[in-house]
Parts: sequence; C-alpha cells; structure tokens
Amino acid sequence: MDKYIIEGGKPLYGEVEIQSAKNAVLPLLAASILTDERVVLHRCPRIRDVMNMIGILDELGCKTRFEGDSLVIDSSDAVSHEIPSALAKELRSSIFMLGSVIARFGKARIAYPGGCDIGLRPIDLHLKGLKSMSVEITEDGGYINCSCVKLKGADVLLDCPSVGATENIILAAVKASGYTVIRNAAKEPEILDLQNFLNAMGAKVAGGGTSTVVVCGVKKLGGVEYTPMPDRIEAGTFLIASAMCGGEMLLKRTDANNIVSLIHKLREISCKIAVKDDKIEIKSSGVRKSPKIVETMPYPGFPTDLQAQMTALACISEGSTLIVENLFETRFKHVPELIRMGADITVRGRAAFVRGVKTLKGADVVASDLRGGAALTLAAISAEGQSSVTDLSHIDRGYSDFEYKLTELGAKIRRVHI
Ligand code: UD1
Repeated sequence: MDKYIIEGGKPLYGEVEIQSAKNAVLPLLAASILTDERVVLHRCPRIRDVMNMIGILDELGCKTRFEGDSLVIDSSDAVSHEIPSALAKELRSSIFMLGSVIARFGKARIAYPGGCDIGLRPIDLHLKGLKSMSVEITEDGGYINCSCVKLKGADVLLDCPSVGATENIILAAVKASGYTVIRNAAKEPEILDLQNFLNAMGAKVAGGGTSTVVVCGVKKLGGVEYTPMPDRIEAGTFLIASAMCGGEMLLKRTDANNIVSLIHKLREISCKIAVKDDKIEIKSSGVRKSPKIVETMPYPGFPTDLQAQMTALACISEGSTLIVENLFETRFKHVPELIRMGADITVRGRAAFVRGVKTLKGADVVASDLRGGAALTLAAISAEGQSSVTDLSHIDRGYSDFEYKLTELGAKIRRVHI
C-alpha cells in the first residue's frame, strides 16, 4: 500500500496539463469491441481504472498495447463474452461492457460491478433499457447473464438521467436493428464524446449531450483513431487546489465550458479566472469567502465528483457552507478525516454543514474513495504542518501523475510504500 507524506502550506504556481477524461475513456474502451478493426486512443491516461478496463478487454481476447501514450486495440480475435468477477469487482465501468459485448456476441455474462463505495449504485436502469431492446436477462450467483437473438431498437425512458445507463444503451443500440430513442438521457459531456467516437466509426448517433439521444442502428462499425476529451474533474480538482493554497496556475488542454458550475462558484468566492481557448488561468489570494451552498446535480449542475474537493475548500473559507449531495447516499466518507485535520463539519443525511476555520492542521488521514482521496490531498497541501494520506490505490484509479503534477506546482508531496 502507498501513502503520501505532505508538508502543507505552500502556494501553487505554474502550469499543469490536463489528462484525457477517465469517464470518457472508459466507455470508449467498451465501445472498441464493437469493431474488429484497429482502434487507437491517443493520450490515453494510464490510471488504474483504465488499466483494469484494458485487463477486461485482454480477458475477452482483444490484443492491446501502448505505443507511447496511444493505446492500440485489436478486437478481431475477441472470443469471450464473460467478464470475470475479479475484474468486474475492481471497477464499476465494467458494466458498460454489457451493451457492447451483447452487441458483439449476442450474449454476455458479467459479475456485479464494484467501484467506489459511495452508495447503493444500482444498475436497474441499465438492465431495464437492455430488456426493452429484446435482451433476456437472468441472474445467478452474483452474475448477470444476457442473451438475445437479435438486438432491436426501442423507445427507452430513463427514470433518472443515469450516465452509465445512457452510455450502455447507446453501446447496445449502435448495431441494433432500427431506431433507439433514449429519453431523459444524461447530458454529461462524456456522452457527447462517446457519440463523436462512435460516429467516427460509422455509427449514427445524434443528441448526445442533450436529454434525448437517437441512435439509428448500422450493420458494421470500422476502426478509428481518436483523442478523448480533457478530464473536467481533474481540471476542477486543480482549480480547487489553487483556490485553497493561493497562487497562480495555468491549466492547459482543458475545456472551461464543461466546468462552468465550478468556475461560477470559484469566481463568487473571489478567485480570478480567465479563459482563453483550451486554457484556464486562476489567481487566488488564499483568502476565500465561503461558497454558501454547493448542491450536486446531474450535468450541467455542480458535479458530485467535485463535491468532496469543494467540501475541503469550504473547511477553510470565511463563513459557513451547506453541501447537499443529491446523487450518492454515502459520499461523505472524507468528512471524518477532514474533522481530524481540524475541520468543523456536521453531517445530517445527504447534507453537510461546514463552518469555516482559519486553517486545517496536518494529520494522518485515510482515503476511502477516489474523489474523497483527492479532497484529503488538497486539504493536506493547504494545511499547516505534516500530513499523511493513506491508501493511494483509490487516487490512482482516476488521477495520473497526481503527486508529480502537484510537485511541479510547488507542493511538498511524496509517495512512500508501506
Ligand atoms: C458516472 C461517473 C461517476 C459520476 C456519476 C454521476 C463514469 C465511469 N462514472 O457514474 O464518476 O459520479 O456518473 O455524475 O462515468 N441510478 C439508478 N439506477 C441505475 C443507474 C443509476 O438509480 O441503474 C442512480 C444512481 O444511484 C445515482 C444516479 O442514478 O443516484 C446517477 O448515477 P449514474 O449517472 O448512473 O452514475 P454512474 O454512471 O455510475
């Protein structure tokens, strides 16, 4: 197991280049088995979730290799329709394989997925959508078995706008017969990225990024070379780090349009933010007003994946902040750890009430999920004195070179193996 040792209290100055989005790359990897031609993903981040997803592709019989930072996938010899439990339990996105594996083999067997422990995370909407496309689904011993004679396009209404369910149904629909309409679809930008990728392979998908997605099934998809969109959550994490530590930071290869809700919040608390092309510059004095209220919502609302980092920021802001987590039931596991560092927070159900303190104090804290781990790291680099953040396997799921990028910006952070 690895941990960070952090000497806090240094302002952050310099540039940081944003990785390709984890949540875009994962469904693209699932989509790659829809063709038996070559797929190349440029700027593919070697984060743990991506490496696990590559492990699943290998298990299905695909040949995968990195050429520099480009991932090359050859699925022509893929033979297996079964995703074993050891890999499925490692990451929730293994569930995205369901739609594409059924589209490729007419059947799929997958163990119930794992992922961050942040709540119930049901998959009923995924299964309901697939059933309406003529997929038969049975369950045995923790496995989901799917089969179908022919995938048929369908009119699907999602009870809530689930990102994963929207993506899974799109993946099943691209080679189904006829049209599929997904109503109340999630509007996250990663869905538009999936649409662009699939259309570059010859699919006919429209409406990605809006609440109605229409897919016209095609017979065959071809190979593609593609560069996934920048990671809006990594970008948001660095912007919040800057707001917490003070200094001047330039984010390169990013898209400010995808994190408007965060940029608004940071401007409200007196950070100076300038956007030019694919760059965002942030200047922060290190003195923050409280954000008052942060309520997570589906896109374009405030992202749940930045809630933990924003909670860390609220801890050292002037005044109080109400944080409301609407998407996941147990996404406050970072709070007891922040309290160890001197934060003043009360949690009631899905709400956390944060009373700002002048500064956090270094402490030994434990990460129990990906974004919570990032939040604790930000708390530690802004705190007075030394901290340790244990169990970096969570952070490694979603951030490539996190400590290296923070070190370049002036943070005192190192990884040690324990
Ligand atoms: C994706 C992101 C994750 C992000 C989340 C919300 C990926 C790989 N992960 O996760 O980082 O935190 O979107 O922005 O893209 N729900 C159901 N039934 C279902 C599916 C979902 O009730 O079948 C509910 C969930 O409990 C949750 C809400 O829908 O309350 C949103 O979840 P969803 O959008 O599906 O999140 P994920 O796709 O798992």
